[in-house]
Formats: sequence, structure tokens, C-alpha cells
Amino acid sequence: MEYSGEIERVLIDEKQIAQRIGEVAKQIDADCAGKMPIVICILKGSLVFCADLIRAMKTPVTLEFMKVSSYGASTTSSGKLSVSLDILSNIEGKDILIVEDIIDSGHTMYALKEMLKTRRPASLRIVTLLDKPARRVSPVTADYTCFEIEDEFVIGYGLDYAERYRDLPYVGILSRSVYEN
Ligand code: IMP
Ligand code: MG
Repeated sequence: MEYSGEIERVLIDEKQIAQRIGEVAKQIDADCAGKMPIVICILKGSLVFCADLIRAMKTPVTLEFMKVSSYGASTTSSGKLSVSLDILSNIEGKDILIVEDIIDSGHTMYALKEMLKTRRPASLRIVTLLDKPARRVSPVTADYTCFEIEDEFVIGYGLDYAERYRDLPYVGILSRSVYEN
């Protein structure tokens, strides 16, 4: 993928991502010993992270997908959860691991967690690649966070701006010129 001029700089490179995912996978393995959690990959942003995470984990998992969003092509959250793809399987009594790309205002994860709780899983945990704690509005914290970042709009490694840049192998900062034009 060629995006020269559109990326201001690399924030987290491939090597850092792989190393940190290895560490977090170990923590999850330790906490999930003897269990087979249902991993819920939140589309589309978490696809790349989830693919690497489940392969770094030793714990056997089953995999489901949900598509929830509170974002359009904008860089700020509307605060509303819309579920455009739901899981069909019954999660009552099951251990759930939600895999998210980034927690920003927290609206999406807070609302999703509340919604899934009503389905009475045995446990419900969140693992996020990125967290922007300075931006938090809704009271939600991830159980596992790979990287805390500053209040900057990032793209790559699954994360998009207007559906682009998901294919970058690293997390980067978009040039201001891209969204100011
Ligand atoms: P929240 O509801 O404000 O926490 O928003 C979470 C969602 O917003 C994430 O799943 C992302 O899809 C999107 N998002 C938030 N910050 C960024 C960013 O810096 N780059 C790309 N997407 C982002
Ligand atoms: Mg998104």
C-alpha cells in the first residue's frame, strides 16, 4: 500500500505491535486457563489486531464477529451505538472476550458491554489495541490494553479514516492535510 505524503509519522511500528501483542496474549492465556472463550471481533477496525492476537494466544477460542459503531467518516464519536451485525450464538454462561481496536470516548464499548451483559455471559472482558484515556466520557476500562496513546487521530493496522489506511502494517498519524482538504 502506498500512501506517501498522507502519513505524518509512524506512531507504533510492526515490531512494537507484535511484541506487545505477545505480552498481552500471555496475560490473557494466564487468565483464561482451562477455558475456551468466545472472541468477539469488532468489525471492521479490530480485524487485523484480532487475527494477530488469537494466533499469539495459546488458549483455544471460538470466533464471532459484530459490527457496532458510533462513527461515520468523521473523527468524533456521535455517542450512539448502532449494531449492524450481531452474533447468532447464545452467550449465556460463556466467557466472552471482546476485541476492540481503540477506545476513545468509550461510548461504543460502554454501550456494547451493557448490551452483552443482558445476555448473561459467565464473564465479559475487553482487550483493546489502543486506548486514548484523555478522551474518555463513558465509564469503561479495558481489561487488557496494548498501548495507551495521546489524543491524536491514528490510522493503520485496521484503523481507518473514511475507510482508508486499514491495510497499513503499523499505527500512524494522518497528515492534517488529508482531513482539512
Ligand atoms: P468511542 O465510542 O468514542 O470509544 O469510539 C470507538 C471507535 O471510534 C473505535 O472503535 C474506532 O472505530 C473509532 N476511533 C476512535 N478514535 C479513532 C482514531 O484515532 N482512529 C480511527 N478510529 C478511531
Ligand atoms: Mg471504527
